[in-house]
Amino acid sequence: MTQRAEPEIVLFSPENISGVAALAARCFTTPWSEAIYRRELENPQSVGFACIADGEVIGMIHCNYVLDELTLNTLCVDEAYRRQGIARRLWDAASGMMRGVCTVCYLEVRESNTAAQALYRSLGFVQTGYRPRYYSLPEEAAVLMTAQLTD
Ligand SMILES: CC(C)(COP(=O)(O)OP(=O)(O)OC[C@H]1O[C@@H](n2cnc3c(N)ncnc32)[C@H](O)[C@@H]1OP(=O)(O)O)[C@@H](O)C(=O)NCCC(=O)NCCS
Repeated sequence: MTQRAEPEIVLFSPENISGVAALAARCFTTPWSEAIYRRELENPQSVGFACIADGEVIGMIHCNYVLDELTLNTLCVDEAYRRQGIARRLWDAASGMMRGVCTVCYLEVRESNTAAQALYRSLGFVQTGYRPRYYSLPEEAAVLMTAQLTD
């Protein structure tokens, strides 16, 4: 039997950005469009990594930063590849690149998304806020979480 290659973590690029947008569309009800992700390639305040398995984008993380504040906008992994440590590897790639530039990271997550909240807690995030009716489709509150990036 042929051994499957370990999924690879790579920076967003013109070659993989369609796959990034397609993955976002599979994982979220209100995804960013491919045009938005493509614009982010030109944004110097943007950090994005894709996880590639068998030539397909099966995971991705996207963050923006201003001064020493990092905002995690999107982190997702295709259903078939979950619970294999891929989200953790994507976070390690993005936070590893930004340590030394940013000291803190913020994110918002749907209140009902207990899987993502468990992931974020395991990565060192703690709840620091709550925003009622923050999301649409469906309407839902956001939990604001924060992690220090300093050692
Ligand atoms: C949340 C998500 C990104 C996790 O991706 P993943 O690759 O499966 O996560 P990992 O395998 O790296 O998990 C690392 C740790 O996070 C926690 N975790 C992840 N998924 C979990 C779940 N469904 N339930 C409980 N804990 C979970 C666990 O502590 C896990 O470690 P363990 O497997 O050793 O117990 C994935 O489920 C997903 O894409 N969901 C849909 C999109 C989404 O909701 N994104 C987040 C909001 S932006």
